[in-house]
Amino acid sequence: MTAGGMERAAPSGHRHAQHRPVLYAQVLAGLDVRPGGTYLDGTFGRGGHARGVLEQLGDDGRLLVMDKDPEAIAIAHADFDADARVLIRRGSFADLAAWDAVDGGLDGVLLDLGVSSPQLDVAERGFSFGKDGPLDMRMDPDDGESAAQWLAHAEERAIADVLWTYGEERASRRIAKALVARRESQPLLRTAQLAEVIASAVPRGKDKSHPATRSFQAIRIFINRELADLEIGLDAAHACLKPGGRLVVISFHSLEDRIVKQFIGTHAKAPPADRRRPVEPDFTPTLRMLGGAQKADDAELSDNWRARSAVLRAAEKLGPALRSDAP
Ligand SMILES: C[S@@+](CC[C@H](N)C(=O)[O-])C[C@H]1O[C@@H](n2cnc3c(N)ncnc32)[C@H](O)[C@@H]1O
Repeated sequence: MTAGGMERAAPSGHRHAQHRPVLYAQVLAGLDVRPGGTYLDGTFGRGGHARGVLEQLGDDGRLLVMDKDPEAIAIAHADFDADARVLIRRGSFADLAAWDAVDGGLDGVLLDLGVSSPQLDVAERGFSFGKDGPLDMRMDPDDGESAAQWLAHAEERAIADVLWTYGEERASRRIAKALVARRESQPLLRTAQLAEVIASAVPRGKDKSHPATRSFQAIRIFINRELADLEIGLDAAHACLKPGGRLVVISFHSLEDRIVKQFIGTHAKAPPADRRRPVEPDFTPTLRMLGGAQKADDAELSDNWRARSAVLRAAEKLGPALRSDAP
C-alpha cells in the first residue's frame, strides 16, 4: 500500500492484504527474489510488497522489515510474528546498517518512499489538507517536532526556504508571510487551518490542484527529513548489498527521483570526460542499472490514481561473485 500508490486486489485474503501496492509486479521483478536470500523492505507500510516477497521466499529465506511509523510496525508484528522468516524493526531505513540482522549482507533492498495511504487517509496523522486533523505530519510521532511545533517558531525566511526547496512552491515567500502573520493572532494547530491560510495567500491555479498541495508536501518532507534519509539509506543499502543483490526504489516526486537516478548513475556509469583533466580517472562500476524509469501502466492507473506519480528504478550490485543470470 502506498501513498504514492494504492492498491489493487492482493494475492491473499489477509486482513491487511486487501489491496495490491503500487508497481507490484515491477517491484518483484526488480528484486528477483531468491528463495534462500535475505531481503530488506525498508518501508513496510501495510506490507503489500513484503507479502509478495514472502510468497517467493523459501523456509531459509529472510525478510527484514523496517518502518518509522509505530502503526506500521504494530501491523507487521500482528501479521508476521508467527513467521520465523520475518524480522521487524522500528526505525528509519537510513539506519539499516546498524541492524545486526543485516550483518550477513542483503540480496535485495526495497524502498517504497513517502507516506502510506493510511497515513494520508487518517485525519489524526495530520498529513492531509483534505481531512482536518491535528497538524502533525510525523511518520514517527516520537521523533522530532510536529509541523505545528515547527510552524510556531520557524522564521519566515526558513518557512519560505522549506516551501521552495521541498515543494518548488513559487509563492513560497507570500505563503510564509501569511503563515507568520496568522500565527501572531492564532496558533496554527490544524491541517484545515494551514490549508486555509495557504489558499488565502495563493489563489487556485489553472491546474485545478489544491493550492496547499506543494506546501503540504514540502513541510512533510522537511519534518520527516525525507531526502536526507534517502541519501543515507541509499549509501547504506549499497554497502550492505551482496554482489548480485538488487536495489529497488519507488519515488513519488522529482526531488526523490533525482536523488535515486543520480545515485544509481554515479555508481553505474563513468563520469563524463572532463576537458580540463587530461586523463580519465579509473572508474569501476559497483551497480548495474536495470532499465530506466518504470511507471504504472494504464490498467494500474485506472485502478489507482495515486500510482500516477510513482517512478521505479532498479539496480544490481556488481562484484566478484555475480548472479548466474547476469549478462
Ligand atoms: C509508500 S508507504 C510503503 C507501502 C508498502 N510498500 C506497502 O506495500 O504497504 C511508505 C512507508 O514508508 C515509511 N517510511 C517513509 N520513510 C521512511 C524511512 N526513512 N524509514 C522507514 N520508514 C519510512 C512510511 O512510514 C510508510 O509507512
